[in-house]
Amino acid sequence: GAPVQADISKLEPGQRMTVEWRGRPIWIINRTPEMIERTEALDPGSLADPDSEVPQQPAYIQGGLRSIKPEIGVLIGICTHLGCSPLFRPEPDAEGVGVDNWPGGFFCPCHGSRFDLAGRVYTNVPAPTNLEVPPYRFESDDIIVVG
Ligand code: FES
Repeated sequence: GAPVQADISKLEPGQRMTVEWRGRPIWIINRTPEMIERTEALDPGSLADPDSEVPQQPAYIQGGLRSIKPEIGVLIGICTHLGCSPLFRPEPDAEGVGVDNWPGGFFCPCHGSRFDLAGRVYTNVPAPTNLEVPPYRFESDDIIVVG
């Protein structure tokens, strides 16, 4: 499939937008400094693959936030268990997530898998790996090209 462009100029801090690429939802999340802080403060022991050792992202995607810019996350919005689309639950202690001290992230309603705001999967959930990061680049501050 052809690359797709996303204009993020209206994506407010704390919000997510979705574009489609190769028939799949691509989430673009504008993480606030506080969201970044919460993500970086996670106990790595609560995550199955905190350092993304299973390659679920392009080689140029490094670090715990799994993104080119710390504030902008780009993820394929498909659960790595059986392919449902997880819900965006960015706020701490979100109802329905069922986790003490939930720091915000994504929750898959199908079988209860949980991911942080970088798409890293928690331990003790059915999803085996982190969410995928698609290939992408910044064409400008406002335009991301996915694919
Ligand atoms: Fe997401 Fe099963 S498809 S937990």
